[in-house]
Amino acid sequence: MAFKQKLAKVSGIKATKLPSSYQIIGDVLLFKLPKLRQEQKEKIAAATMTLLPYVKTVCEIKEIKGELREPEVVKLAGGKTETVHKENDILYKIDVSQIMFSKGNLSERKRLIPQVKEGEIIIDMFAGIGYFSLGIAKFTKAKEIMAIEKNPVAYNFLTDNILLNKINNINAIQGDCKTFAMSFKDYADRVIMGYFPGTEDFLDYAIFMARNNCTIHFHNIYKIKDLWKKPLQQIEEACKKANVSYEILVKKKVKSYSPSTWHVVIDFRVIK
Ligand SMILES: C[S@@+](CC[C@H](N)C(=O)[O-])C[C@H]1O[C@@H](n2cnc3c(N)ncnc32)[C@H](O)[C@@H]1O
Repeated sequence: MAFKQKLAKVSGIKATKLPSSYQIIGDVLLFKLPKLRQEQKEKIAAATMTLLPYVKTVCEIKEIKGELREPEVVKLAGGKTETVHKENDILYKIDVSQIMFSKGNLSERKRLIPQVKEGEIIIDMFAGIGYFSLGIAKFTKAKEIMAIEKNPVAYNFLTDNILLNKINNINAIQGDCKTFAMSFKDYADRVIMGYFPGTEDFLDYAIFMARNNCTIHFHNIYKIKDLWKKPLQQIEEACKKANVSYEILVKKKVKSYSPSTWHVVIDFRVIK
């Protein structure tokens, strides 16, 4: 029997009112729920914990808001919202009520690792809790990873995660990557721009920090009708403004963001 049917049976709520998917981060389960009364939501949460005994907390996730991508999460059953999530042999300590964790970016986190060459200097402009930086530090011979994060809560988890994974080549910096960029002209072999929407506003800063031959991983979201013309135009304009040449290496759809919008990544090489 499918999970939804089992959940309907145990909770006593019609399957048509139940979510068909969920996300598990560590031992916390996150649901997006349709409009239901609070007591119905709590019944669903209690039934979930009966069906999945390894789940210790069940939360409803409403939306991810603002510049710092903070989630709106409501606890429905169980205990702590802080947990340790393991993915690809990396441990991520996170509080899901304060910080988002996108499982949909797993392929991207894995894709970068074989590209990194020994001795590289990498700048992760939107490091979060270490989504990209930790894997690169653990599985490559990068020389140094500058992981910049503006949100103090995410930054604290980033520093905890560096210790938890016994990493010694990540330099975690709390602040705005635009301010940081000014002191790191021509510095990096690789720049990761893992943020959206509006990532185009940061292109000038990424190019400024790139040294000759640097690869920039430019993430953003676009309407289907704007692919690939709009992002390519934004890269073209930023490189022209900085008076540098460039070469497009990869154009990739990462995941569907909404029915008409894609999260995409474009890798391009800067020639200075
Ligand atoms: C959505 S998370 C993405 C993390 C990760 N790079 C990924 O793609 O999976 C984006 C992070 O960028 C941070 N952020 C937003 N604006 C920033 C800025 N100007 N400078 C540094 N960090 C910033 C947010 O606080 C958030 O933790």
